[in-house]
Amino acid sequence: MSLDPLIKFSHVEKVFPNKDGQPRQVLRDVNLSIQEKSIFGIIGHSGAGKSTLIRCINGIEKPTGGTVSFSGKLVNTLKSSKLRSLRQNIGMIFQQFNLMPSRTVFENIMLPIKYRHINRAEARQKVTRLLEMVGLPDKASAFPSELSGGQKQRVAIARALIDDPKVLLCDEATSALDPQTTQDILTLLKDLNHRLGITLIIVTHEMEVIENTCDFVAVLDHGKIIEQGNVYSVFVNPKEILTQRFIATTSRLELPQEIIDSDLLNLTGKQKLVKITYLNGKAMVPLISFISRNFNVDANIVVGDIKILQQKPLGGLVIVLDGLESDIKKALDYLGKQEIRLEVQNYDKRN
Ligand SMILES: Nc1ncnc2c1ncn2[C@@H]1O[C@H](COP(=O)(O)OP(=O)(O)OP(=O)(O)O)[C@@H](O)[C@H]1O
Ligand SMILES: [Mg+2]
Repeated sequence: MSLDPLIKFSHVEKVFPNKDGQPRQVLRDVNLSIQEKSIFGIIGHSGAGKSTLIRCINGIEKPTGGTVSFSGKLVNTLKSSKLRSLRQNIGMIFQQFNLMPSRTVFENIMLPIKYRHINRAEARQKVTRLLEMVGLPDKASAFPSELSGGQKQRVAIARALIDDPKVLLCDEATSALDPQTTQDILTLLKDLNHRLGITLIIVTHEMEVIENTCDFVAVLDHGKIIEQGNVYSVFVNPKEILTQRFIATTSRLELPQEIIDSDLLNLTGKQKLVKITYLNGKAMVPLISFISRNFNVDANIVVGDIKILQQKPLGGLVIVLDGLESDIKKALDYLGKQEIRLEVQNYDKRN
């Protein structure tokens, strides 16, 4: 049984008119299905169209072609009153936090509901609850200037949650933060997804953010989605060069040419430098001892980078195989039949 997606893009195009009369196409035939309660990442370089894409979800931008639907309703044709109620379902946070500097934390969080007919006491309780949820129970009367970047983003998250939205759009929400604070905010976002079932859409130019946080990823390049899928499958088998480059930023499996050229490894012509990477969750280290025992080869691990993603191992090993040429060949034949990716690296020494 496949569920209807919460958010669906069908053939979405966006062309901005330009002052000099040259139209600028920013989104091209974008097709996406985002399931409720999932964490969906969108990665691309600066200018790829990421912000424009997510702004089509809450109707800040209108596609010039195709359709965007939210809970089965078309977003791009909604009139302003309907659009307002749609936006109550969609919170948003930004790289620069966008807090009001002259208002306290409490007032900032109340801002989206300030002019509504609501029960004030209940609203106050809710702000207190949200502050606890984002880990700032004692900051209600602080001003934004008194907070660190991570604390400001926590306030922005609390403000975005005031209407109990179904979705939180995160536009480069950690790009202005240091690595540890980034990690803390991503942990908070994952926790909110887990506890509240809120759907997260995470826009970033950092593959590490996708790796740490998302269930699904779409890679946007010049307004086109060039690859998308479950994060584990995209990481183990990226098809597009841009995706491969993004993934390479998260892996330490490459052996630098300086090391290959140096005497450190002491490679000789008959040895083979072999890279094996996971294609699924099958254990890898036993493979190494298996080939050593059964084919009489020495298998030395020179680089290893194995981590767990979605409860499955990801990454691999670079090993040097040494022994009789015929034994090395048998070992490689055996490895080639396993469910791993096998690359025999060229290590011609550059003199
Ligand atoms: N209102 C607009 N009018 C004209 N061009 C625009 C408008 N908004 C965005 N663009 C252009 O659309 C392209 C995509 O912009 P967008 O902000 O969506 O990219 P992005 O992937 O979010 O980039 P960044 O990582 O820098 O935030 C850019 O070239 C930008 O200049
Ligand atoms: Mg942007």
